[in-house]
Amino acid sequence: MTKNVGILAIDIYFPPTCVQQEALETHDGASKGKYTIGLGQDCLGFCTEVEDVISMSLTVVSSLLEKYNVDPKQIGRLEVGSETVIDKSKSIKTFLMQIFEKCGNTDIEGVDSTNACYGGTAALFNCVNWVESSSWDGRYGLVVCTDSAVYAEGPARPTGGAAAIAMLIGPDAPIVFESKFRGSHMSHAYDFYKPNLASEYPVVDGKLSQTCYLMALDSCYKTFCAKYEKSTGKQFSLSDAAYFVFHSPYNKLVQKSFARLVFNDSVRKASSIDEGAKEKLAPFSTLSGDESYQSRDLEKVSQQVAKPLFEAKVQPTTLIPKQVGNMYTASLYAAFASLLHNKNSELAGKRVILFSYGSGLTATMFSLQLHEGQQPFSLSNIATVMNVPTKLKSRHEFSPEKFVETMHLMEHRYGAKDFVTSKDCSLLAPGTYYLTEVDYMYRRFYAKKPVDGASENCSLTNGH
Ligand code: ACO
Repeated sequence: MTKNVGILAIDIYFPPTCVQQEALETHDGASKGKYTIGLGQDCLGFCTEVEDVISMSLTVVSSLLEKYNVDPKQIGRLEVGSETVIDKSKSIKTFLMQIFEKCGNTDIEGVDSTNACYGGTAALFNCVNWVESSSWDGRYGLVVCTDSAVYAEGPARPTGGAAAIAMLIGPDAPIVFESKFRGSHMSHAYDFYKPNLASEYPVVDGKLSQTCYLMALDSCYKTFCAKYEKSTGKQFSLSDAAYFVFHSPYNKLVQKSFARLVFNDSVRKASSIDEGAKEKLAPFSTLSGDESYQSRDLEKVSQQVAKPLFEAKVQPTTLIPKQVGNMYTASLYAAFASLLHNKNSELAGKRVILFSYGSGLTATMFSLQLHEGQQPFSLSNIATVMNVPTKLKSRHEFSPEKFVETMHLMEHRYGAKDFVTSKDCSLLAPGTYYLTEVDYMYRRFYAKKPVDGASENCSLTNGH
């Protein structure tokens, strides 16, 4: 029986191109502070014409394998979570097979999982289940979450972002799943969906998506607590986990989500809530579910009551989501990566709760136990390898005008064929994959920017 199955290693990639939310706010004619304070976002990362979900995932997978010295032959399952549809049949996973085929490994199970921002969690559960199952052949699982979150002009646009994350799965991991404590909530809703296959942009009912998110959170927390209580005989409260990590479409929703858990604990009379907080929240305990989602007073009071706990248990998870934006499937894991970056070896012995949400809708709350781990798969090494500060610092800020221009170009390129890109990879770090061409049969070709720094002129690499 395999023990302590979980995440052994993580790497993250986000594009080197971004726009400041403050500048975007002014450009869009939004009131000052709407994107930065109102949504709580600092910066938005986006792909230019040379990057997409496939190039980002090629980059992050090859980077993880190299940095951890994992032979591609050691991978037995590869699962991708994404909601960025480039092909309705051919999975992103099959593009990634280029890395493995080269090394003679075509014996790799797994395809793509899609349901809005939840696909990465589905992929992760599939890999963990495989390692724990009788069909496990002793090799590693690899999970990739990759998305480019782009919205049409309007209020949702500042909640875009882009990134890819790779996670290596196996036994004796520093990040272990406590699989018996898991609460899911799945139902039918039209809060955010992509019915127009000719456009990359979703149809969004923004207000409904916020309520659906919070309703799913409440439901998952209730189920999670019930399972915990059944298994341990003790009531679960926010005090039983050191950190809470949320899917992060924008930071304000994360603040509201944690406040909602505090409100839940106060209604449940859980031990995490002190007398003062109890008193402040008591007037809201008789509200019906619907009333409680609409109550601005409850929102305000619960956020105020939750503030000190938020600073301690959630703030360290917010760095990358605030700086890059919503990365859809990668968002939750980018928040978790932020925690690993900020707290690394201090996390040993701690429990961390994650909440995954995908519109439409699917949601799960699950629990991880962290251990220092053995090199190279240790918490501190994961933080070092991800090298988040350098990646954030070396980004290039685009003006809002240039960002909008890029979005226009990408609209034309979406679903198009028979074009070559500029192949300008001057802004990309060495080792980054980029799109060179989509030919007359819609076949996509990628090249890799040389690692040795020998040449910035990489336009003549192995297109096809
Ligand atoms: N200074 C400070 N705060 C401000 C200012 C200002 N000048 N102007 C507005 N605000 C606040 C608002 O009060 C509001 O905060 P609140 O929620 O605490 O009241 C916040 O900024 C946003 O303003 P709204 O008017 O509510 O924003 P709008 O409705 O225009 O758009 C929305 C926000 C709905 C989130 C939109 O960006 C969207 O649709 N995004 C995509 C959907 C999404 O991300 N949903 C989340 C779950 S689903 C998923 O992950 C995709």
